[in-house]
Amino acid sequence: MNGNTFLKVIAIDGPAGSGKSTVAKMVAEKMNMRYLDTGAMYRVVTFYLIKTGFFEGGAIDIHSALIGIKLDFENDRIFLNGKDVSEEIRTPMVDTKVSYVAKQEEVRAFLTRMQREIAERGNVVIEGRDIGTVVVPEAPLKIFLTASIKERARRRVAQLRSKGIEVDIEKMKREIRKRDEIDSSRSLAPLVKSKDAIEIDTTTLSIEEVVDKIVRLAKKRFKEHGRDVG
Ligand code: DC
Repeated sequence: MNGNTFLKVIAIDGPAGSGKSTVAKMVAEKMNMRYLDTGAMYRVVTFYLIKTGFFEGGAIDIHSALIGIKLDFENDRIFLNGKDVSEEIRTPMVDTKVSYVAKQEEVRAFLTRMQREIAERGNVVIEGRDIGTVVVPEAPLKIFLTASIKERARRRVAQLRSKGIEVDIEKMKREIRKRDEIDSSRSLAPLVKSKDAIEIDTTTLSIEEVVDKIVRLAKKRFKEHGRDVG
């Protein structure tokens, strides 16, 4: 692997509701880069485990489940064994189980390997929790997005409402807090800001403001990084 391998990778990490997905997708579009939502990958594994009865003590274990999973991507759509499951993986049921699944060593190893292979092909915006710290620590630009719990819960409730799912805001705050706690305290690849990441608090910023800021930083970094490794 040479210094150019990760020449054009933007790593965007942050907690649920910090605006990662919307922002990452728009940055990718503006920069003419590919987009990878790694949270969706953890969600697909969770969805598969739910469907196969894993949580009801069904016959399947995590190892066999991973063997049965083939993931494909097309823009912002994700396919499980050939079927588009992009909508089905974003239900409250998956929300409540995904942090447990994301703690499993075998799941992380399986998905991290896949994510790194995608990163190695370059020209990609990758969003998640451990992209700047574990998946692509070499990324020339790392962003850590944050927002207040209140704002993050408000965004998530609005997102679900647009799909016809009603959730109480206080309940959502509690769930987000719980998920933050599990994601940040797990021993494997916890959600932490990489030392060299640039933190952006999105609580009071518009999506366009955040996107513009990242695009400006990316153009600058890619130019500098190109000089460093070139
Ligand atoms: O971004 P999201 O809410 O769709 O992510 C779903 C879950 O997956 C989240 O609770 C933590 C986990 N996750 C992770 O552990 N590592 C990643 N790189 C991305 C997501």
